[in-house]
Amino acid sequence: MKALILVGGFGTRLRPLTLSFPKPLVEFANKPMILHQIEALKAIGVTEVVLAINYQPEVMLNFLKEFEARLGIKITCSQETEPLGTAGPLALARDKLIDDSGEPFFVLNSDVISEYPLKEMIAFHKAHGGEASIMVTKVDEPSKYGVVVMEESTGKVERFVEKPKIFVGNKINAGIYLLNPSVLDRIELRPTSIEKEVFPKIAAEQKLYAMVLPGFWMDIGQPKDYITGLRLYLDSLRKKSSSNLANGSHIVGNVLVHETAVIGEGCLIGPDVAIGPGCVIEPGVRLSRCTIMRGVRVKKHACISSSIIGWHSTVGQWARIENMTILGEDVHVCDEIYSNGGVVLPHKEIKSSILKPEIVM
Ligand code: GDD
Ligand code: MG
Repeated sequence: MKALILVGGFGTRLRPLTLSFPKPLVEFANKPMILHQIEALKAIGVTEVVLAINYQPEVMLNFLKEFEARLGIKITCSQETEPLGTAGPLALARDKLIDDSGEPFFVLNSDVISEYPLKEMIAFHKAHGGEASIMVTKVDEPSKYGVVVMEESTGKVERFVEKPKIFVGNKINAGIYLLNPSVLDRIELRPTSIEKEVFPKIAAEQKLYAMVLPGFWMDIGQPKDYITGLRLYLDSLRKKSSSNLANGSHIVGNVLVHETAVIGEGCLIGPDVAIGPGCVIEPGVRLSRCTIMRGVRVKKHACISSSIIGWHSTVGQWARIENMTILGEDVHVCDEIYSNGGVVLPHKEIKSSILKPEIVM
């Protein structure tokens, strides 16, 4: 079985992190986002993953080579010379996706996180006999997604409306598809949207089916959702394999600490924190609802909440970092600084406090 992951887009909503790495390589819960997906695909027997990419393919491939061998899965690139949207890349990769088996293939948006119930999806797809299956989930704010209206009992999709202006329903496209090869006959090799041009037509022919995704789901392509996504992910990890989570008197709730990270005396860490490889958390530090990327040093008595600290940054003593502060790679925050929602570009030194959410260039 094969799969294609849509990895285009510039990840602008996740800047400044995506100024250093393509979005799919930004770590989520101490693992590059795309690896969560590749591992889930491998686990259900996918043998080849095609990355549909429109920039920096070398960076991605060099990085993923290591995992190709380790996971025993083939990873190839299909590179666009112009952005082809969410459907065009399927036409471009047509020859890679089709083989003699006639089996359906998976298509994933690269920025969604869930328990990837792909096995259940295969069973669902086989049972309905339509042409395409999509995973849907309920959200409170459906307008920023693709909304699906479906027959509850069968899952048959009646309407698919991308980013509706008026309320249509609260079940949305989760960005995980299982498609018969015949879907490729519907897609031309040009910039085109699977949500706007392909799904509405398959739905009109009553061959599109939706399965309600069990478990959590989040599009982690924006800082606020990334932080919420980590909470949901860690909750789910707690239920499935809690031995991977940290414990001890200095830990509150769900916390992931890389084995090479060092945590000083008298810290209080959690809930919903991920601390990456090689980090040094000095004594007396307070961390909650945040991600600390690889190689970061947090100095004594600093306090970080609801924020993301980029690779190899340092946070000074008694600094207070909060409210969706995002530090890019190699940012240095001086002692006693306060940041309220600062978005700081890579390689900066912060010498004065950031009192309201703003971008620091
Ligand atoms: N190769 C390639 N080329 N990939 C692309 C391109 C392109 O030109 N444009 C976007 N992508 C990839 C993105 O990297 C992402 O993985 C996926 O296609 C979806 O694009 P987003 O930009 O993240 O779209 P969205 O989040 O606004 O909406 C999509 O996802 C929602 C769920 O998170 C839609 O599929 C919605 O219907 C859906 O609800
Ligand atoms: Mg998205």
